[in-house]
Amino acid sequence: MSNTLASRMNRLGTETAFEVLVRAKALEAEGQDVVHLEIGEPDFDTPSNIVESGIAALQAGWTHYGPANGQPELKQAIADYIQRSRGAVYEPDQVVVTPGGKPIMFFVLLALLEAGDEAIYPDPGFPIYRSMIDFSGAKAVPIALREEHDFRLDVDELASLITKKTKLLILNSPANPTGGVLERSDLEAIARLAVEHDLTVLSDEIYAELVYEGQHISIATMPGMAERTIILDGFSKTYAMTGWRLGYGLFPEDLVPAMNRLMVNSVSCTAVAIQQAGIEALNGPQEAVGEFREAFRRRRDLIVDGLNRIDGITCVRPKGAFYAFPNITGTGRESKPLANMLLDHFGVAALSGTAFGDAGEGYLRLSYANSEENLTKALDRIDACATKMRA
Ligand SMILES: Cc1ncc(COP(=O)(O)O)c(C=O)c1O
Repeated sequence: MSNTLASRMNRLGTETAFEVLVRAKALEAEGQDVVHLEIGEPDFDTPSNIVESGIAALQAGWTHYGPANGQPELKQAIADYIQRSRGAVYEPDQVVVTPGGKPIMFFVLLALLEAGDEAIYPDPGFPIYRSMIDFSGAKAVPIALREEHDFRLDVDELASLITKKTKLLILNSPANPTGGVLERSDLEAIARLAVEHDLTVLSDEIYAELVYEGQHISIATMPGMAERTIILDGFSKTYAMTGWRLGYGLFPEDLVPAMNRLMVNSVSCTAVAIQQAGIEALNGPQEAVGEFREAFRRRRDLIVDGLNRIDGITCVRPKGAFYAFPNITGTGRESKPLANMLLDHFGVAALSGTAFGDAGEGYLRLSYANSEENLTKALDRIDACATKMRA
């Protein structure tokens, strides 16, 4: 018999990082040495106070269902943290806790978009934005992020893409895959457009704690924006907790009941012991967050300086997140074949810029969430690859 999928499944994309990880692991199983620069997760262990609090929670009996939108104490801790870290004011009832930040994308795009709507998303950008807009049946409209504009979106270009059908705008600052950070003036101009055209904004701020110059600013703090902004954030990147699956959204009040229903219809609630660890993460000691940031800053400088020394490659210094997005057009190769060649023949797992949209052609994405020793090894191998291509 053949099991037939619903046609909507043809519109659902994927995230290439996980596929490249599988290929890299297969090569390792065959005995190849691979430096992993493909997957976007801190290589640090979760700070021990958080781990201990998760264990204690399980031992104390946090093993049952909890409220769909999250434990009240965690929602309070999140609302406090968001106010303290970026001055955005949300009540605990406006917080929805989810297994990772990713479900917030899934829920928001499913709940707000339908055929006939348009949604603007960053290109290159996190691949799930495009995938989920397509899945919803709405039209996905890319806004290009260009190197010559420091990978910040061009506000005039954004204005030219807005039509009567535009319902939602996705922002991601600091950004994956480029490391670009929107400036205050960008956010002010974007906020004016959002208010003028009555747009909802999904502001993915998952890398908010990883800004190397200046400070993270949330668009939710701009005039008229709190009532139309959903902040997506989580514990994965800030506290090195990717495998715990703990994230959240902060919503305008009128959207909360729909999120509650999506939670009830999908996962029921986020694991309650994990939520207890989340309370410790936000309310306990914060030294590790700064230490992670400083380690990432050193690694950023190491990899960017190293890439800029390689003939055929140039790399802007990203202001946030933990990704370098080098321009590889000088190598004479396109992104995907180059990424394949690096993995298959030089033992470096990297992602093609095109895994993040058409505007990613000419670039690779390298996650520098890896040791300085491994980054140095990867740079030597990338140099050897570039030299071979010139020969
Ligand atoms: C831009 C962006 N948003 C959201 C996420 C989701 O993170 P998580 O679901 O682990 O919280 C990621 C993860 O790579 C990301 O890069």
